[in-house]
Formats: sequence, C-alpha cells, structure tokens
Amino acid sequence: MPKRPSIPLLALAGLLLGAAGTAVMAADGETRDWRSWLRMFPNIAPATQPAYLEECGSCHLAYPPGVLPADSWKHIMTPESLANHYGDDASLADDLVAELRAYLMANGADTSARIRERAFAVPGAARSDASLPRITETPYFIRKHDQIPARLVTDNPEVGSFSQCNRCHIGAEKGVFDESQIDIPGFGPWKD
Ligand code: HEC
Ligand code: HEC
Repeated sequence: MPKRPSIPLLALAGLLLGAAGTAVMAADGETRDWRSWLRMFPNIAPATQPAYLEECGSCHLAYPPGVLPADSWKHIMTPESLANHYGDDASLADDLVAELRAYLMANGADTSARIRERAFAVPGAARSDASLPRITETPYFIRKHDQIPARLVTDNPEVGSFSQCNRCHIGAEKGVFDESQIDIPGFGPWKD
C-alpha cells in the first residue's frame, strides 16, 4: 500500500469534483477548478536519494535527476569535473561520486516516462570553453525562460541566477514546476 494516494487516483477525484461542478479552494483563497488544482502536483520527479540531497543540495536545489540526460550527468559526475564545478569545488570521496553518478544516470531525462522530463533530454549546444553541461542551457529550458528579463534574475539579489530554481518555483523541492506555481521574489506570480 502506498502511503499517499497515487496521482491517477487524485486525478480521478479531481475529475469527479469537476464533474460535480465543485470549485476547489486554493491556499491563496481563490477558487479554482479541478484543472488548476491538478497543476499543484509534481510534474518532475523530485530527488529522493538521501546522500544526493545532502551533498548536492547545499549550494543550490538538489536538482531533480530528470532535468538532464544521463550523458550530461556522467560528464558532471567525474572527480575532475567536481573539483572544477562551475567555478566551485564540489569534490567528494570516490565511492560517493560513483554512487551519486549511478543514481543520477539511472533517472536521467532521456529514459524518463514523464513528458516534462523528456523535454530536458536534448542537451544544450556544446560551448567553445568546454564547460560542463547545464540545465539552464538546454533548448527546452531556454525556450521556457526567454521572456524573463535579467532584472528579475541576475540583477535580482534574491534570485542571483537561473540555477536557483527554487527561488521562483516555490514547489521545486517537491517537483512542482508548473508555471502557475511561481513566485519571483520582488515580482510575484508569473502571468504570460
Ligand atoms: C560548494 C557548492 C556546490 C556544491 C556542494 C554543489 N554545487 Fe552544483 N553548482 C554550484 C555552483 C556555484 C553552480 C553554478 C551556479 C550558477 O551559475 O549560478 C552549480 C551548478 C550546478 C549545475 C548546473 C546548473 C545550471 O545552471 O544549469 C548542476 C547540474 C549542478 N551544479 C549539479 C550538482 C551536483 C550533482 C552536486 C553534487 C555532486 C552539486 N552540484 C554540488 C555549486 C555547488
Ligand atoms: C527567475 C525565476 C525562475 C528561475 C530561477 C527558474 N525558473 Fe523555471 N520558470 C520561470 C517562469 C516565470 C516560468 C514560466 C514561463 C512561461 O511559461 O512563460 C518557468 C517555467 C519553467 C518550466 C515549465 C513549466 C510549465 O508549466 O510549462 C520548467 C520545467 C521550469 N521552469 C524549470 C526550471 C528549473 C529546472 C530551474 C532551475 C534550473 C528553473 N526553472 C529556474 C521562472 C524561473
């Protein structure tokens, strides 16, 4: 028995509520129909491996494994890459590197069954400076974030960079990345 009701079950419950014409009360007090209610559930599987959460979640969100293809994780998770990690030193013991690399590669975007994760499977174009692959340089990421001005990101001291997913995606730790679940510090929710 799963501890929590499964998403299909909740979806069914939502459908029934919708069919009955019942509106659902959201946390902010607005009434929403069941479709927007469903958008509060994870659309990307959150990271769960305890060692990964501990070692890779201290400087930024412990990124969900499904936001990069296995090949990119393989590249990022070598002792050499970790010693020169986007300008930082994120070195770990060799056995831990191997364990975390296996976890990330097994759950990468390219083998995922989730639509939102599959979208991240296409890596960004290789850059001339031979830097490590980035989530924020995948074509899908760029497409989704190209309307957001620098004023709200790099020039916003409460965000700093696009790498800080959870500053804007308030449910990021739970895997909730839907555009209806965004609160950009000093700006607020996102409306296209
Ligand atoms: C000591 C701090 C630190 C630790 C620990 C750390 N990182 Fe990072 N990581 C960074 C910094 C700094 C960046 C670059 C952020 C930026 O450009 O704003 C980064 C960026 C990344 C990116 C690219 C994000 C993007 O912009 O697309 C990935 C992927 C990543 N880290 C994975 C990991 C993994 C996996 C681990 C655990 C093995 C880890 N990080 C541990 C500091 C750290
Ligand atoms: C400065 C705030 C900000 C940061 C930081 C940010 N995002 Fe976003 N993200 C947005 C906004 C705003 C949208 C909605 C854009 C639109 O649809 O026009 C969005 C959309 C998305 C979507 C598509 C959601 C949907 O419903 O279609 C995904 C997936 C996503 N972001 C993932 C990430 C990840 C992963 C990171 C970190 C590597 C990240 N974002 C960092 C603001 C941010």
